[in-house]
Amino acid sequence: MPGGCSRGPAAGDGRLRLARLALVLLGWVSSSSLTSSAPSTSSTSFLASAVSAQPPLPGQCPQLCECSEAARTVKCVNRNLTEVPADLPPYVRNLFLTGNQLAVLPAGAFARRPPLAELAALNLSGSRLQEVRAGAFEHLPSLRQLDLSHNPLAHLSPFTFSGSNASFSAPSPLVELMLNHIVPPEDHRQNRSFEGMVAASLRAGHALRGLQRLELASNHFLFLPRDVLAHLPGLRHLDLRNNSLVSLTYVSFRNLTHLQSLHLEDNALKVLHNGTLAELQSLPHVRVFLDNNPWVCDCHMVDMVAWLKETEVVQGKARLACAFPEKMRNRALLELNSSHLECDPILPPSLQTSYVFLGIVLALIGAIFLLVLYLNRKGIKKWMHNIRDACRDHMEGYHYRYEINADPRLTNLSSNSDV
Ligand SMILES: *[C@@H]1O[C@H](CO)[C@@H](O)[C@H](O)[C@H]1NC(C)=O
Ligand SMILES: *[C@@H]1O[C@H](CO)[C@@H](O)[C@H](O)[C@H]1NC(C)=O
Ligand SMILES: *[C@@H]1O[C@H](CO)[C@@H](O)[C@H](O)[C@H]1NC(C)=O
Ligand SMILES: *[C@@H]1O[C@H](CO)[C@@H](O)[C@H](O)[C@H]1NC(C)=O
Ligand SMILES: *[C@@H]1O[C@H](CO)[C@@H](O)[C@H](O)[C@H]1NC(C)=O
Ligand SMILES: *[C@@H]1O[C@H](CO)[C@@H](O)[C@H](O)[C@H]1NC(C)=O
Ligand SMILES: *[C@@H]1O[C@H](CO)[C@@H](O)[C@H](O)[C@H]1NC(C)=O
Ligand SMILES: *[C@@H]1O[C@H](CO)[C@@H](O)[C@H](O)[C@H]1NC(C)=O
Repeated sequence: MPGGCSRGPAAGDGRLRLARLALVLLGWVSSSSLTSSAPSTSSTSFLASAVSAQPPLPGQCPQLCECSEAARTVKCVNRNLTEVPADLPPYVRNLFLTGNQLAVLPAGAFARRPPLAELAALNLSGSRLQEVRAGAFEHLPSLRQLDLSHNPLAHLSPFTFSGSNASFSAPSPLVELMLNHIVPPEDHRQNRSFEGMVAASLRAGHALRGLQRLELASNHFLFLPRDVLAHLPGLRHLDLRNNSLVSLTYVSFRNLTHLQSLHLEDNALKVLHNGTLAELQSLPHVRVFLDNNPWVCDCHMVDMVAWLKETEVVQGKARLACAFPEKMRNRALLELNSSHLECDPILPPSLQTSYVFLGIVLALIGAIFLLVLYLNRKGIKKWMHNIRDACRDHMEGYHYRYEINADPRLTNLSSNSDV
């Protein structure tokens, strides 16, 4: 405050001196606050220059896209785009990039300066993505919903959702993740199992601990990797429709205490075992959907049928019906009781009758053989005597020949021992 200081010396009395002191103090305070604020002003100017490099004009919209600032929405739909547009407007909250030809999503595909801080819903469905690299969704702090469905994902990095820094992963902001029908054609798959690849990305770094909805329908899943659900403790909705799951024996639902819906329709489930039944029953809010599975109604089904009759967990349980064995086909599980549930070997009927026939024939042959032996027991006894005699004769002949060739002393010995 140079102005205040120059005015000060003109005054002579104590009040003025006090005022001068106050002004000097003020000046010192203001100058020190000025120096301390210097770095912050330089950083804002740096930010301003970064922004001015990509001027966010009010009407700006990437080529081939439609933008609505009022709706905070950008749509680049069915445009055969091969990469994510660089000049996405910073206000974008809903981004549709469906029906394109993106092929590869590199690290930081949506990292912009300034960041797309508002982007909450990103739809990449049906954009021919084959590879999603580590950290593809980094620097999207508000991303709540991501749809990657209908892309043949042969390469899904384990660090897709956890970021490219392998040693450190911040929790992902994702709440809803759609991965329906992302199974690549058979010949494009990696060596490792597709199930394992997807599970690794869901598990990495516990990043998806806030996830509430996970859709994995239509992926030809043969099994669920054992610990994949253990890293998704917040799940409320899990959709596994239209896969090829045969068994849930090795999956644990125990920790999914918030689970509200579990869709398992159109799989290849044969039976649910006691452990699974107990886990499902222990989840407080869950509803389970089990339609269109080929239930096998044999003795292993007893526990499940008993559980079904009691439980409120299964939706539409009256619709569940047997697919095997043949004689039980289309019978409702709820109407069975343990007297219906037997463990016959499940063979086609023609083969079953032929096995029965073969068994009877073999038993008959055995019986006839034993009968013949019994009826001929005297003849056999005689025959055995004959054989014994014949043997003895033979042995004596042998001894005789042996004596001719052997040492005389040994001959004596052997004839003695014979006696
Ligand atoms: C995208 O490509 C397909 C065939 O590759 C073509 O039929 C279609 O017209 C293209 N769409 C646009 C918007 O260019
Ligand atoms: C993403 O877009 C596809 C194609 O338009 C649509 O079917 C799907 O419902 C969208 N996903 C979400 C989560 O809205
Ligand atoms: C990974 O994150 C940790 C913690 O934030 C940080 O110390 C480290 O430098 C990061 N590594 C890389 C390669 O970015
Ligand atoms: C699959 O594994 C075999 C041997 O384990 C290897 O020779 C081959 O290169 C692998 N193929 C791919 C596509 O990784
Ligand atoms: C079931 O999955 C297969 C293969 O993943 C797919 O072709 C089919 O359209 C799906 N069916 C339904 C009803 O979604
Ligand atoms: C369930 O969670 C507990 C603690 O949260 C953990 O120790 C345990 O390993 C989890 N069990 C499974 C099967 O994931
Ligand atoms: C399954 O549980 C029921 C009731 O808890 C029990 O009676 C039954 O023996 C169990 N079945 C098997 C195969 O352990
Ligand atoms: C089993 O079902 C049959 C007919 O479906 C019924 O007649 C029988 O009483 C049932 N037995 C038991 C123990 O419920």
